Amino acid sequence: MSDLKRVTSLLAGDMAAFKPKFRAAVTTDVALLDTVMRYILRRKGKQMRPMFVFLSARLHGGVDAQGAATDRAHTAAALIELLHTATLVHDDVVDESPLRRGVFSIQALWKKKVAVLVGDYLLSRGLLAAVDAEAFDLLKITSRAVREMSEGELLQIEKARRLDITEEVYFDIIRRKTASLLAACCACGAASAGADDDTVQKMWGLGERVGLAFQIQDDLLDLGEGDRTGKPTGQDIRERKMTLPLIHTLAKATPSERRRLIRLVKHKSEDPAAVKEVMDAILAGPGMERARSEMRRLKEESLALLDELGGHDAVSTEAREALRDLIEYTIRRVK
Ligand code: IPE
Ligand code: IPE
Ligand code: MG
Ligand code: MG
Repeated sequence: MSDLKRVTSLLAGDMAAFKPKFRAAVTTDVALLDTVMRYILRRKGKQMRPMFVFLSARLHGGVDAQGAATDRAHTAAALIELLHTATLVHDDVVDESPLRRGVFSIQALWKKKVAVLVGDYLLSRGLLAAVDAEAFDLLKITSRAVREMSEGELLQIEKARRLDITEEVYFDIIRRKTASLLAACCACGAASAGADDDTVQKMWGLGERVGLAFQIQDDLLDLGEGDRTGKPTGQDIRERKMTLPLIHTLAKATPSERRRLIRLVKHKSEDPAAVKEVMDAILAGPGMERARSEMRRLKEESLALLDELGGHDAVSTEAREALRDLIEYTIRRVK
């Protein structure tokens, strides 16, 4: 994360203060739940969403007299990271994934029953964090993302039966399942700093573009380009999930190659050799470059929006520069 230096140094205090707040938000007197929560707290992930919240708040002048993140920004960051964690726990049930953040997933270790309930619990604690702080505006923004994420995951299941989905459908799925939460980070950050509705909407649009690029990179990482994700690679093909590199490879393939790949994905996705064959075809095909160029396009769009947003004082300028780095990191990250 070397190119994140400006982000980590600017946010060092905010992220240090975030840690105990997040921990406090998941305390419970139910022993089993407490054990699972301790397990989750030990592997914290990249925490990019709280970073987007804090930087978006700063971009709009949202700091206290000491230059630290405000209570409202902390409420937004905790709310969103709790929701994010809830969706990961649920997503691993849906995807039957054995690994998350380099260790066994909750569903693999404690079984699906526990994972479903733990996900619900995390969601409830997130919502309560906002209710307790009476942050109705943040709750409103984030609830929209929760709704879209559920719709996106279900849309993905619905479309997985058809292996001929278009890029348009793919973007509709990832906009809902992933980009909506990054959009909520940027919108909530701005709202926590008292930005007006029009600005909050624009920040949603910025975050949405970053989120789309983020998911395309996630799809590329699943193909095993550098294996540092802490998640199994090839999982998307095993789950017959249509990702941009695969969609574009199929669209450009000859009819016979297309039939061959579709047959492998449709009937052999349980067979490791077949999964490897499809992965190799994607890695050698035109879909990789297509995915990278779409990512670059989305990144450029989000950077252009960023130039138009926020103030021009020292706090805002510093935040804008750090946000640029964080957006660049989104498409360059290796985990
Ligand atoms: C993973 O998100 C889920 C997706 C939307 C692809 P992250 O890659 O941000 O997960 P952690 O929190 O760092 O583990
Ligand atoms: C990510 O879906 C979106 C959500 C977690 C809702 P994926 O299934 O593509 O994410 P990973 O790769 O398991 O993190
Ligand atoms: Mg999934
Ligand atoms: Mg998954």
